[in-house]
Amino acid sequence: MFNIFKKKEIKKEQGFNLKKIPKHIAIIMDGNGRWAQKRNLPRIKGHYEGMQTVKKITKYASDLGVKYLTLYAFSTENWSRPKREVSYLMDLPEKMFSSFMPELMANNVKVLVIGDIEELPQNTQQAVNNAIKKTSDNTGLNLIFALNYGSKKEILDAIKNISYDVKQGNITVENIDEQLLESKLYTKNIPAPDLLIRTSGEQRLSNFLLWQLAYSEFIFTNVTWPDYTEKEFLKSLLEYQSRDRRYGGLHEG
Ligand code: IPE
Ligand code: IPE
Ligand code: MG
Repeated sequence: MFNIFKKKEIKKEQGFNLKKIPKHIAIIMDGNGRWAQKRNLPRIKGHYEGMQTVKKITKYASDLGVKYLTLYAFSTENWSRPKREVSYLMDLPEKMFSSFMPELMANNVKVLVIGDIEELPQNTQQAVNNAIKKTSDNTGLNLIFALNYGSKKEILDAIKNISYDVKQGNITVENIDEQLLESKLYTKNIPAPDLLIRTSGEQRLSNFLLWQLAYSEFIFTNVTWPDYTEKEFLKSLLEYQSRDRRYGGLHEG
């Protein structure tokens, strides 16, 4: 559980508003390879360290009362990496959940996945499905892994799905609205992210949540993912709190 004293400290030291925590934070966890290269280590060591950051930030987000945390772990484009690296990344969920599960349970975290998991190796699918099942009754933070995720594919699949319904005569073209399209995305029932964070200095979306991020706040930090700390995360949240979300309207007050 979150240490109340620590909460007060956060507020005092940072001018942090505990009532203005984003409900949904999405993170493009980038820079694992560069973190390793800088230390003359193999890229996979960067992914291993990145996994430790996943654990830290999940715990912290859960303590702060964030309701949804979506982490971009593997994109549909990442298959083009060297075989050895892809295979290491595919083994990471199993590695991670085997050590992380007690903490996830203790913190009431529910694991979810977005992306095409049926294309993943059997052991990866099994590890992921196990984690989803084991945590399915938890009611705290929703921890969503984007695994073999590609936003263009997600939207295309939704369009195909809707087209089929029209063809079958289940719906008419006039029935197609934002709500219907959203109900066909992997993220159905998940609210749009309030905040997108990308680490390692890159400023692009790399095919991540193109529809869902339409009105999210973006924060880019130069820190690579393995070096990303609770303190950095808090800094990102503080910056988020200073933003004025207008949604096309006018500034309030
Ligand atoms: C992010 O780190 C993790 C994945 C994309 C799987 P990278 O592996 O992209 O690290 P860089 O960008 O090469 O430094
Ligand atoms: C985006 O990072 C995908 C993930 C973090 C999983 P990449 O490192 O693959 O993105 P690009 O290739 O630099 O755009
Ligand atoms: Mg990268």
